[in-house]
Amino acid sequence: MKDRNEELKSREALARLGGGQKQLDKQHERGKLTARERIDQLLDPGSFMEIEMFVTHQCTKFGMDKEKFYGDGVVVGSGKVSGRQVFVYSQDFTVMGGSLGKAHASKICHVMDLAIKVGAPIIGLIDSGGARIQEGLGQYGSIFFRNTMASGIVPQFCLILGPCAGGAVYSPALCDFIFMVDGLSKMHITGPNVIKAVTGEEISAEDLGGAKVHSQKSGVAHLVAKTEQECFEQVKKLLSFLPASSRETAPAAADSDDPMRLTEEIEKVIPDNPQRAYDMKKIIHSIADHNDFFEIQEDFAKNMIIGFIRLGGNSVGVIANQPLVSAGSLDIDASDKSARFIRFCDAFNIPILNLVDCPGYLPGKHQEFGGIIRHGAKTLYAYCEAVVPRVSVIVRKIYGGAMSGMAVSKLVGTDFTIALTTAEIAIMGPEGAANIIFKDEIAKAEDPKAMRVQMVNEYREKFANPYVAAEEGWIDAIIEPKDMRACLIGMFERLKGKVEVRPGKRHGSIPL
Ligand code: HXC
Repeated sequence: MKDRNEELKSREALARLGGGQKQLDKQHERGKLTARERIDQLLDPGSFMEIEMFVTHQCTKFGMDKEKFYGDGVVVGSGKVSGRQVFVYSQDFTVMGGSLGKAHASKICHVMDLAIKVGAPIIGLIDSGGARIQEGLGQYGSIFFRNTMASGIVPQFCLILGPCAGGAVYSPALCDFIFMVDGLSKMHITGPNVIKAVTGEEISAEDLGGAKVHSQKSGVAHLVAKTEQECFEQVKKLLSFLPASSRETAPAAADSDDPMRLTEEIEKVIPDNPQRAYDMKKIIHSIADHNDFFEIQEDFAKNMIIGFIRLGGNSVGVIANQPLVSAGSLDIDASDKSARFIRFCDAFNIPILNLVDCPGYLPGKHQEFGGIIRHGAKTLYAYCEAVVPRVSVIVRKIYGGAMSGMAVSKLVGTDFTIALTTAEIAIMGPEGAANIIFKDEIAKAEDPKAMRVQMVNEYREKFANPYVAAEEGWIDAIIEPKDMRACLIGMFERLKGKVEVRPGKRHGSIPL
């Protein structure tokens, strides 16, 4: 018996060596943690239960029968993050570059199937040369299929901790959140060598698919960390805002901030002069429990802010215009960013808060040629589709078409619309409107310039406040900025039992 137990121990030790000590040392020389070290740092100590440790590939082509390693280049199982169960797979670059063959893919599919059945998040740690050249044909399809099945059922995270090349990029792309580590992660469909051969263009892997590219230009990445350790902390924090599955609601935090805390500082943030910009993030921090805001896609489409806060201990997804960037206008990237976030929140029972200060859609041929009509429609669709509790706050201005684009109306399914006393609500901005409706008066005046200023001011006095819109029934409540936090907590509390049933259908046809 003793010998048998010893055999198990020695085989386990061999499996833990992955591609061998030399390869493990090489992994460290590359500045990367090993697949198992990553799992140890991500999960609660001692909580990991590995499965399929002794799986090997069965390929005999290209001399592969002589290159077998326990685990086949991926460590899979389940464990806990802050006491909550997750399923994990971690690709082991020390075994054939973490490449994905049949057995490797089958292990990933097994934990994904379990996660879907159990109702727990899936976290993939990616460090791989992609499809295994000797036997990887078509295997990614089984993972893409499960990514799609899991979508809207359990949260899916992908951490890019090395290369992620070729068709392999599409599994992360089908997940809810992609994490990258600056300097370590590389994501691209065709690498620098292929690009050079096909187009003659020369570019480094970092400039092509590094963390900066995907967090600032492409919008592929949702969170960027300086180190792997920081990345794991981000994963833990994001998970804390989410339910384990769409069958649940997100766990409430035990240590709620004072729900009646006044937010007097907001009045100082919003300038009296409507032409002056301010930082909407200060308002988000101000209303949030413990002033804590977890921002997503911070460096992409900065005119639109998305992320999570807690109000009275409960998770809330925030969508907000940023007046500091392009005056907070709606454009192609901002539309994609908000639409996807709204749909994630709706799928996972997370209430939505819109903070609005928006002059409308960004004008220009670049926007029209790029399809702002198509992209803007995604946001409208996402709002109209969302059945979670929804509150919109008009912080300063909202003009015309952006009313639906920022869900400032019960007509698109918003439950409560609040205006701060600082709000301006009109069909158009005062300058544009005065030019049109007082065109004759301005043209005939002795001093057209002075007349224009007078007309703009008249228009602003009449319409650029919340009262005309309130009289017309657009606004549920007008509040002072200092009461914003208490009011929002009260409103979401009242919406807790919300149930909205929509007509049954296979799925809608969102204008992608
Ligand atoms: C088999 C692979 C491999 C692969 C790497 N290796 N990628 N083995 N299949 N796809 C092996 C290498 O042969 C090497 O083995 C070890 O992993 C480490 O690789 P290195 O090249 O030494 O490491 P590094 O210099 O860090 O470069 C890593 C890399 C590079 C950038 C990932 O290996 C690379 O470009 N690989 C190919 C990437 C690629 O084109 N993938 C697309 C495949 S097609 P030894 O024994 O020497 O240690 C695809 C289509 C999917 O993915 C379709 C889905 C729809």
